[in-house]
Amino acid sequence: MSRILSGIQPSGELHIGNYLGAVKNWVELQKKYECIYFIADYHAITGSYEPADLRRRTRQMAVSLLASGLDPAKSTLFVQSMVPEHTELTWIFSSVTPLGELERQTQYKDKSQRQESVSAGLLMYPVLQAADVLLYRADLIPVGEDQVQHLELAREVARRWNAKFHSDFFPEPKPLLTATRRIMGLDGQAKMSKSLGNTIGLLESPEEVWAKLRPAMTDPARVRRTDPGTPEICNIYHLHKAFNDEATVEHVAVQCRTAGWGCLDCKKVLLEGMMRELTPIRERACELEARPGLVTDALAAGAAHAGEIARSTMATVRDTMGLR
Ligand code: TYM
Repeated sequence: MSRILSGIQPSGELHIGNYLGAVKNWVELQKKYECIYFIADYHAITGSYEPADLRRRTRQMAVSLLASGLDPAKSTLFVQSMVPEHTELTWIFSSVTPLGELERQTQYKDKSQRQESVSAGLLMYPVLQAADVLLYRADLIPVGEDQVQHLELAREVARRWNAKFHSDFFPEPKPLLTATRRIMGLDGQAKMSKSLGNTIGLLESPEEVWAKLRPAMTDPARVRRTDPGTPEICNIYHLHKAFNDEATVEHVAVQCRTAGWGCLDCKKVLLEGMMRELTPIRERACELEARPGLVTDALAAGAAHAGEIARSTMATVRDTMGLR
């Protein structure tokens, strides 16, 4: 049976971008496969941050994931730093990773341009990600589009390590993408991302969501209420596809093209669809906040299971490489 693995940064509450791009699919996959999911706190320390804040965001992310439907009885869920073998394998992989490949990573180029002082950790980030995946010898990695390049590097690392040590120990992991692989932010300009401040949080109230949806970017051709629009170029239309059924989406498209609805009418229908899906998640999150022991126990059990797999992989890796 294929093994599924994926990770997410401890950015606090989930937003609808990482929910639709990845986590919703994680929940589906746990019905059919062995699944391992983790909160990537080692990935979150490459820039400046407050330790207490990191701990709070990690915890919030665990609540968001469980509330979204990750079931600790079906899947393994843990915090990356609870299994320190991730960092050992990173060092080992650094010696088979070409520096040029790291310098070519789009996320590295973007992020390093935005920072005054760039840590070696930012450059090494995809090596840690390769270690995350290969430590569990996972085959299928459910992610959004922005992670595909990192996974190509993980495949390259697996190939190079196998070749150097005449082994076929590491499988080459494949990305698993959804129809909602790239959700744009409310500005309609860039990918939805916490660091760009263009998100809708998964646990926000209908009032909070409406306050963000109301001014969100639509088709610029619709200046007046009577101007017809082109749904395909409007981010709001794409969000309808994620949250509403086909008949509603078709109706939305017709109303947009014929100027039957104004953009605000269209956004109100979107809000209803979103809340149908998000309200139960918000309620579950409230219940979990009230029972912190449940979250702690789920993460501890997950780390114990992940740790067993990780230690077994590392025993083979050290043995193969002549370490100890
Ligand atoms: P992160 O935390 O940025 O995002 C978590 C997942 O959500 C997807 N995603 C999106 N999908 C569609 N539209 C968006 N606007 C959007 N924003 C985020 C991401 O593609 C990702 O699947 N480096 C990774 C975490 C990681 C990881 C791993 C993933 C660490 N180790 C090993 C897979 C395997 C990251 O920062 O994701």
